[in-house]
Amino acid sequence: MKNNSIGFIGAGSIARTMIAGLVSKGVTDRKRIWVTNRQNRESLQKLREEFGVNFTYSKKELLENAGIIIIAVKPSDITTVLEEIKPVVDESQLLISVAAGVTTQSIEACIGSRPAVVRCMPNTSCAVGESATAIAAGMYAGEKHLSAARKLFGALGEAVVVDESSMDLVTGLSGSGPAYFYYLVELMEKTAVAAGLSREVARKLLFQTIYGAAKMLRDTNEDPSLLRQRVTSPGGTTFAALEVLKNMGLEDAVNKAVLKAAVRSRELGVQSIRQG
Ligand SMILES: NC(=O)c1ccc[n+]([C@@H]2O[C@H](COP(=O)([O-])OP(=O)(O)OC[C@H]3O[C@@H](n4cnc5c(N)ncnc54)[C@H](OP(=O)(O)O)[C@@H]3O)[C@@H](O)[C@H]2O)c1
Repeated sequence: MKNNSIGFIGAGSIARTMIAGLVSKGVTDRKRIWVTNRQNRESLQKLREEFGVNFTYSKKELLENAGIIIIAVKPSDITTVLEEIKPVVDESQLLISVAAGVTTQSIEACIGSRPAVVRCMPNTSCAVGESATAIAAGMYAGEKHLSAARKLFGALGEAVVVDESSMDLVTGLSGSGPAYFYYLVELMEKTAVAAGLSREVARKLLFQTIYGAAKMLRDTNEDPSLLRQRVTSPGGTTFAALEVLKNMGLEDAVNKAVLKAAVRSRELGVQSIRQG
């Protein structure tokens, strides 16, 4: 690969959280991170002030400086970006796309030569070094490219290599996943506050509860249903609450939500190619 400097095309939510994670974990020297976007100069200035990274308004300059290019734009903008970088990208560079639904095949076809493309689906917990990232290699990406992507996202949390055919499903699972848990916490907090608890106390209890449950799942590696059964004595309080969730169709809602996000990921990918 050309070098290990990282260039972000796109400076929105996911790029920001990745930069925050890379800098705070010291994965790479902040001076080896470059970032560019379409027009929002203020957001580039802010990234420099906050994280000390380099920014440029020129994709050519970014590509001249970075060996690993992370494409972090909406699926609808990816064709424009690929057209713009096509004349300057070379085969020694690794292109990592985090765009939902966009296949490595369509990126390769847009670039035209034999680019090393890796498709990744991180989530915004990158910012605290706790992302869950799925990685899939394109046709011209070798072991060294996959391992560079694994190293990068492994430093930002957990990174798992999957077959590209699973990427849309993974998007509905872990890519969008943090929002499902935020929503659950939001609803529980709302109930607690409406029932008379202070927001401050509700938050303290809920944040620790979700953190503790996640830590139990990860540290014990036990089946979630076993952990649930262990805290659910028949006729008890947890039992009563879970009966309500079951009877009101939580299983069906979760199933539909995850699959709907996966379908949406596929649609966004297809639309991005049509628009291009
Ligand atoms: N957010 C998440 O949780 C998450 C998780 C995993 C993957 N993703 C994927 O990450 C991608 C970006 O999502 P996001 O939430 O970060 O979006 P976002 O906040 O809307 O940011 C999009 C960025 O793309 C830039 N951009 C658009 N067109 C461009 C162009 N032609 N050249 C250079 N930069 C361009 C925008 O620049 P301007 O501001 O200057 O227009 C902006 O900085 C999406 O494809 C999404 O599927 C997101």
